[in-house]
Amino acid sequence: MKPNDLPTPPPSNAWTLARRAERMNPSVIREILKVTEKPGIISFAGGLPSPKTFPVTAFAEACAKVLREDGQSALQYAASEGYGPLREAVADMLPWAVDPAQVLITTGSQQGLDLVAKVLVDSGSRVLVETPTYLGALQAFTPMEPQIEAVASDDEGIDMADLERRIGQGADRARFLYVLPNFQNPTGRSMSEARRAALVACAAAQGLPLVEDNPYGDLWFDTPPPLPLSARNPEGCLYLGSFSKVLAPGLRLGFIVAPKAVYPKLLQAKQAADLHTPGFNQRMVAEVIKGGFLERHVPTIRALYKSQCGAMLASLKQEMQGLDVQWNSPDGGMFLWVRLPEGMSAIDLLPHAVDKGVAFVPGAAFYADEPDARTLRLSFVTASVEQIRIGIAALAQAVRERLKG
Ligand SMILES: Cc1ncc(COP(=O)(O)O)c(C=O)c1O
Repeated sequence: MKPNDLPTPPPSNAWTLARRAERMNPSVIREILKVTEKPGIISFAGGLPSPKTFPVTAFAEACAKVLREDGQSALQYAASEGYGPLREAVADMLPWAVDPAQVLITTGSQQGLDLVAKVLVDSGSRVLVETPTYLGALQAFTPMEPQIEAVASDDEGIDMADLERRIGQGADRARFLYVLPNFQNPTGRSMSEARRAALVACAAAQGLPLVEDNPYGDLWFDTPPPLPLSARNPEGCLYLGSFSKVLAPGLRLGFIVAPKAVYPKLLQAKQAADLHTPGFNQRMVAEVIKGGFLERHVPTIRALYKSQCGAMLASLKQEMQGLDVQWNSPDGGMFLWVRLPEGMSAIDLLPHAVDKGVAFVPGAAFYADEPDARTLRLSFVTASVEQIRIGIAALAQAVRERLKG
C-alpha cells in the first residue's frame, strides 16, 4: 500500500480507557530514577541489588548444562504451575512443611502481587496495608479498584489495635492484609516475634487472610528473623518469595505458596497473564541452587550488605550532627529510613540534593494515605563505601542549606 492509501487513523477519542487503566500510574520511583540517572549522581534511590552479588559464572555453567542436557524441553512451552524440580526446591527451602503442589512459580514476586490482586480484589473491596508499604504492591492492587486502607504501624510493624478496628465483618471484611515482616521495603524495619504471634492469632480469630511478602528475609546481618507468618498458619496466609535478591532480579523468578482454597484461581490468572514463567530460567535456577549453592552464596551477600549498611550509618552519624535528622538501623535488607527535621519536605529537598550530586526516594511515594512528608528511603547496597561517604556528606549539605532557607 502506498502511504496515500493508508486508512485514516481513528479520531483520538475512539480510545476509551478502562476505569482500571485510568487508575494506573507510572511508578514514582522509575520517574525519579530517570532524573537521577545523570552522570556523576550518587544514587541511593534505586531498589537494585548489588550486581557484584550476581553469580554469573554459576549461571554460565548452568546455562550450558541445561541446553546440552535438556535443551528442547527448556525451550518448549511448559506447565503453568512451574518446573517440578524448582517447585520442590522452593518447598524444601522454606522453614515449614510445604507441599510442592502448593507452590506456583511466578515471573518475579511482582507478578505474584498482580495475580493476588486479580483473584482477591473486587471493585470497592477493602484491602489493608502497612504504613508505609511497598509501592509496587500499591501499583498492583490499585487497578482492581479496592479501597486501600493504611493500618498504623510502628518500629515493630502493624499496630494491632488499629488493625482490629479496621478488619470489619461480613461483606465489609477486608479481603486481606498485605504485610512485609522482614526488612521491609521501604523502611528496613522488621516485625518482632511478639507482634508476629499477635498478628497471626488475631488474623486467625477474625478470619482475616494475610498476604506475606518476603523478598528480603534471607538478607539478615547477624541473626535470622523470627519465623514467617505463613509458617504459623499456612491455611490463613499467602506467601510471596523471590529469587531476585538472593540470585539476580533479571531472571524474573518468584513464587507464591498458596492455600488450596486459592491456588487454582491464582493458576488460572497466571495462565491468562503469561501461560508460564520461562522454563529455561527455571531450569537454570534449579540447576544453580541444587547441592546447597544458596547456603554458600547468600552469606556473601549478607556480609557485603552489612558492611555497606554500617558505612552508611557511620556517615549519617558523622555528617548529620546537629541537624535534627533521624534514621533507623536495620538488621538486614537493603534500605534504611530517614526522617528530616520538622517542617522539611523530602520532595522539596530532592532537587537540591540532586544538584549536590546525590539522590534518594522521598517517602511520600510509599504511603497509601496521608504521607509523612519528612521521610525518605536510602538504599545502601548499590553505591560503594566511598560513594556512600561522599553521598551522605552531600545530602547533609543539602539539608543544612535548606535549614538556612
Ligand atoms: C517488597 C517487594 N515485593 C516484591 C518485589 C518484586 O520483586 P521481584 O518481582 O523482582 O521478585 C520487590 C522488589 O523490589 C519488593 O521490594
